[in-house]
Amino acid sequence: MITLMDERDLARWLRADVRTGFTATPKRLPPKWFYDARGSALFEEITRLPEYYPTRTERAVLAEHAAEIARITEVKTLVELGSGSSEKTRLLLDALTARGTLGGFVPLDVSADALGDAVTVLGESYPGLTVTGVVGDFSRHLRHLPDGDSRMVAFLGGTIGNLTPRERSAFLAALRSTLHEGEWLLLGAGLVKDPAIEVPAYDDAAGVTAEFNRNVLRVINRELGAAFDPYAFDHVALWAPGPEWIEMRLRSRVAQRVAIPGLGMTVDFAAGEEIRTEVSAKFRRGGITAELAAAGFEVYRWWNDPQEWFGLTLARAVRP
Ligand code: SAH
Ligand code: TRP
Repeated sequence: MITLMDERDLARWLRADVRTGFTATPKRLPPKWFYDARGSALFEEITRLPEYYPTRTERAVLAEHAAEIARITEVKTLVELGSGSSEKTRLLLDALTARGTLGGFVPLDVSADALGDAVTVLGESYPGLTVTGVVGDFSRHLRHLPDGDSRMVAFLGGTIGNLTPRERSAFLAALRSTLHEGEWLLLGAGLVKDPAIEVPAYDDAAGVTAEFNRNVLRVINRELGAAFDPYAFDHVALWAPGPEWIEMRLRSRVAQRVAIPGLGMTVDFAAGEEIRTEVSAKFRRGGITAELAAAGFEVYRWWNDPQEWFGLTLARAVRP
C-alpha cells in the first residue's frame, strides 16, 4: 500500500472543511467525509438496495462490454479512482487478465479501511496480479499516481457526479495531465432520467441512505469531539432540475446549538435549516463528450443500458 496522506493530514483537512462549511451560507460539508469504515459499509449496503439502480445497471453494462474494452485497450495497468470494494471492477480485471496484457491494478481511495479490505481480497483472487492500493484523495493526489506507459483509469459508480462542475473540470484536467497521450479513461456516469426513479435511489424505504447521510455527523463527533445528535437531523434528497443533480441534505428538526470542541466553535441551526452534504449530478451523452474534450480526452466508445439510466464512456487522452 502507498499512503499519500496520514491521520494528521486527514484531521487537518477535516477541520478546515468543517469550519469552512459550517460558516458558509447555506451550510455544506464535502462528501468524502461519509466514508469511514462504517460509512463505507453503509455504502456497500446501498449498492444492494432495490431502489439504488446505479450499481446493478453499471455492472450489467460492464459485463456486456468488458471483453471488448480489454480487446480495444490491451492495457498493462488498471488504475481505479474511488475504488471502494472494487466489486464491479472484477469484470474488467477478469477480461484484462484473460486478454493476457494486465500486470498491475492500482485502486485509490480515501477510505483506508475499505481499500485495505479490497486489496486483501483481490490479492487472493488474482495471485498473478500486482495489486498496489493507494490511500489518497483523487482531488489532490493524481500527480502521485504510479507512472506507466499503458494505463487505463477507471472512475466508476457515477462518483464523478459527486464533484461540482468546477471541481469536475479541475479533476479532469489534472487527470489528463497525469496521463500520456493514448492512455485510457473509463468513466461510469448516471444519466438524466425521471426524478421518480432518481429520488428513491437516494432516499430508500429502508432508510439506509439516511443513515449513510447522518454518518458524516458521527465522523465529526468522533474526530472533533462534537455533540451532534444524528437523529436531530432529517435526511433530505431532492432533484434539482437546473443543475440536473440530486442534492442530499441534513435538515435540523429543531433550533439547536452544537459544540465542536476540536474547532473551539459552536454552530447554530435554525429549525428546518439544512446542511448540503452531497450532490450527485446526472449527465447527458453530449455533455460528457464536451467536458471530456475540453480536458483533452476523445470519446472512443459509448455504451449504456437499454433504459438509458447509466452510461459508460471509454475515452483516450489526446494532445490537448
Ligand atoms: N467505485 C465504487 C465506490 C463508489 S462510492 C462503486 O462504483 O461502487 C465512492 C467511493 O469514492 C468511496 O469508496 C469513497 O471512499 C471514495 N471517495 C470519495 N471521495 C473521494 C476522494 N476525494 N478521493 C478518493 N476517494 C474518494
Ligand atoms: N457515487 C455515489 C452516487 O452518487 C455515492 C452515493 C450513493 C451517495 N448514494 C449516496 C453519496 C447517498 C451520498 C449519499 O450515486
